[in-house]
Amino acid sequence: MPAASPRDRQRILVFDSGLGGLTVFRAVHALRPDADYLYLADDAHFPYGALAPDALVARVLAVIGAALDEFRADCVVIACNTASTLVLPALRAAFPMPIVGTVPAIKPAAAMTRTGLISVLATPGTVSRDYTAELIRDFAAGFDVTLVGSKHLAGLAEAALRGEAVADPEIAAEIAPCFIEKARGRTDVVVLACTHYPLLLARIERLAPWPVAFIDPAPAIARRVVQLIGAGGAGEGGFAARFTAGAAPACALAAFAAGR
Ligand code: DGL
Repeated sequence: MPAASPRDRQRILVFDSGLGGLTVFRAVHALRPDADYLYLADDAHFPYGALAPDALVARVLAVIGAALDEFRADCVVIACNTASTLVLPALRAAFPMPIVGTVPAIKPAAAMTRTGLISVLATPGTVSRDYTAELIRDFAAGFDVTLVGSKHLAGLAEAALRGEAVADPEIAAEIAPCFIEKARGRTDVVVLACTHYPLLLARIERLAPWPVAFIDPAPAIARRVVQLIGAGGAGEGGFAARFTAGAAPACALAAFAAGR
């Protein structure tokens, strides 16, 4: 937990199942370096993409509630599509502060595509959600949207960030179903709808069968945080990390330090 900070500093809790939320932390921190941060990772239950919906809702409410008892956040950022597409209503009913979710960036993808072929690369949980289907219905009706539920990519991103060897073919196999060729053209936009995936962006771009626009929602989430709690002031806030399975991995601490 961070040392008690003057209450004129705002506090932001960033939550994910593991290391993927770091991609959002960096973007939020870039706009609000003056805030105090707690990065909370429920790695004891990683991957969230494999959890049953009821279990996921109960788990997220419990871990966020326990963290907020100690870290009185002014804003909570759910840096996880798999959780956000399910638990935002329950979280907003349970806690009073603004809660910013991360959900598949289908609206920007629809604005960006030229061929009309969009792929949404996400966890099996996120692609199965009604919320995701509603986003497609509301913002991408008439477009050809392919949902790709990757079983292994979040785990591969964790492994790579921890410095373990991850072979190119393992990544290539997970992204391959995103690339569709039809008479009207080829996929030209891929939504990265899991916060882990931008950790592998350089490799994903290199392994893509053809160039496409990959959408990482992190900058938009950071702007939303500023809209809700303001632009902040001068100075540098503190940060702390809590990983439910044990100590924060060194790669996470290095990422926090680099992001500050
Ligand atoms: N980072 C999470 C997301 O954005 C998911 C990873 C997991 O399956 O736990 O969906």
